[in-house]
Amino acid sequence: MALSVLDRFLNRRSLGIARRVQLEPEKRAVGRDWPSRAHTMIGLRRLDNIQFCIERIIEERVPGDLLEAGVWRGGASVFMRGVLQAYGVTDRTVWLADSFKEGRSARSTGLRCT
Ligand SMILES: C[S@@+](CC[C@H](N)C(=O)[O-])C[C@H]1O[C@@H](n2cnc3c(N)ncnc32)[C@H](O)[C@@H]1O
Repeated sequence: MALSVLDRFLNRRSLGIARRVQLEPEKRAVGRDWPSRAHTMIGLRRLDNIQFCIERIIEERVPGDLLEAGVWRGGASVFMRGVLQAYGVTDRTVWLADSFKEGRSARSTGLRCT
C-alpha cells in the first residue's frame, strides 16, 4: 500500500502521531490500563502485593532468590530490589526473565539483577 503524503512527511522527520490518553486512577490502581511511560503496568495494588509477599519471605526467613517471569519494562523487578534494600537484605538475587519479543513465541532470556 502506498504511503500517504502525511506518512512520508512524518517518516522523513522521524515523527509520529500520538493520542494522549486521560489517566484513569481506578484502572491504574489495578493495572487495567496500558501506561505509555510507566516502568510497570501492574498497578499499585499488585505492587502492594509484591511488597507484602517479600515482607512475609523476610519475616518467615524463607530461603532463596526472587524471580519475575515476564518483566516488560522491569519496574516490578526494580521495586522488588527496592523492597529488599529497604530491609537491608543483600544476600538475595532478583532474577528477570523475558523473551523481549512480545506477541511471538520465543526462547526466554534470563537476566540477573543484582
Ligand atoms: C503483561 S507483560 C508483564 C508486565 C510486567 N510484569 C510489569 O510489571 O509491567 C508480559 C511480559 O511477558 C513477556 N513474555 C511473553 N511471553 C513470553 C515467553 N514465552 N517467554 C518469556 N517472556 C514472555 C512479554 O515480553 C512481556 O514483557
